[in-house]
Amino acid sequence: MSTSTYRTAVVRIPAGPDSIEIIDVPIVEPGPGDVRVAIAAAAVNPVDLGVAGGVFHDMGLLHQPEWTGLGWDFAGTVVAAGQNVGLAVGTRVAGLVDGFDRDFGTYAEQLVVPAADVAVVPDGLDLIAASTVPLNGLAAAQIVDLLGDAPTDGNRLLVTGAAGAVGGYLVALAQDRGWQVTGLARPQDEQFVRGLGADFTAQAEPGWDAVADGAAMQEQAIGLVRDGGTFVGVRPNAGPASDRGITVAAVVAHPEGPRLRELLDRTASGELPARVHAVVPLDQVADAHRAMANGGVRGRYVLTPKA
Ligand SMILES: NC(=O)c1ccc[n+]([C@@H]2O[C@H](COP(=O)([O-])OP(=O)(O)OC[C@H]3O[C@@H](n4cnc5c(N)ncnc54)[C@H](OP(=O)(O)O)[C@@H]3O)[C@@H](O)[C@H]2O)c1
Repeated sequence: MSTSTYRTAVVRIPAGPDSIEIIDVPIVEPGPGDVRVAIAAAAVNPVDLGVAGGVFHDMGLLHQPEWTGLGWDFAGTVVAAGQNVGLAVGTRVAGLVDGFDRDFGTYAEQLVVPAADVAVVPDGLDLIAASTVPLNGLAAAQIVDLLGDAPTDGNRLLVTGAAGAVGGYLVALAQDRGWQVTGLARPQDEQFVRGLGADFTAQAEPGWDAVADGAAMQEQAIGLVRDGGTFVGVRPNAGPASDRGITVAAVVAHPEGPRLRELLDRTASGELPARVHAVVPLDQVADAHRAMANGGVRGRYVLTPKA
């Protein structure tokens, strides 16, 4: 039976997991170019812990008058389409909602998004696994854009946090552009990193042609770049200063529907990792946040709005 409201997780006054509330909000119909998606799965990402903890409020990036929506990643099924949309009702899709300052998010039963921002989930990939791909797969692909093609005379790339979500994709995708990748990760992650075709280190020495900082080590990671090398970080609002002729950039992950489709296809084929740590009902979102905050989790917690 259809209802006129749906459930979504928000924070009013951010103070960590205990400040997350599940509220009912009115269903919105999709405008031209938009789709309404019944969400089946929403991955929990580090950025969500930051939003719930007030990190981005404190940075002045959030100004919602009543509440802030949580969640960037989603996978689900199209339930309504606006004008000029080529996606039929019932199509399985995944996508990324970007930007901090919004009163809605993907920790919800429903979402209205531009059809251009979503990608069809290929057969053979379930929606739980698909929901773990958009934010971190696109972030990694867009970091590789910032790195560009590897110069033949300087192609040694260190990926920090190589066993993490962004780092794992980076290790795989950077090799497409000619980088000779070494992954910096914990000793217990060696097999995973090597399995992606990279070299492994648990203790990196300085002197890399480029560093892609999936562990958000910032100044410590820039210290590993050789003079005149390249650093690409994951903290656009807190990037370390350029030093020793080093080119410094930071990614701002953004939706790219066609590119997400490629990432989903490569996940379905097993070429890219699909890593789910646990599936948790939306009602237990605070528990998932608490568990993530302890660190050491490999693969994502995935929230499901339906029990
Ligand atoms: N700017 C953007 O658009 C954007 C987009 C996506 C993500 N991000 C950011 O990117 C970062 C990574 O996200 P994620 O989802 O990939 O996180 P994640 O899955 O938790 O991965 C981080 C990895 O780094 C490892 N790590 C941390 N310190 C390390 C060290 N000193 N040596 C070796 N490994 C270390 C962690 O291991 P342990 O768990 O054992 O500590 C973990 O495996 C987060 O800060 C996130 O907010 C930014």
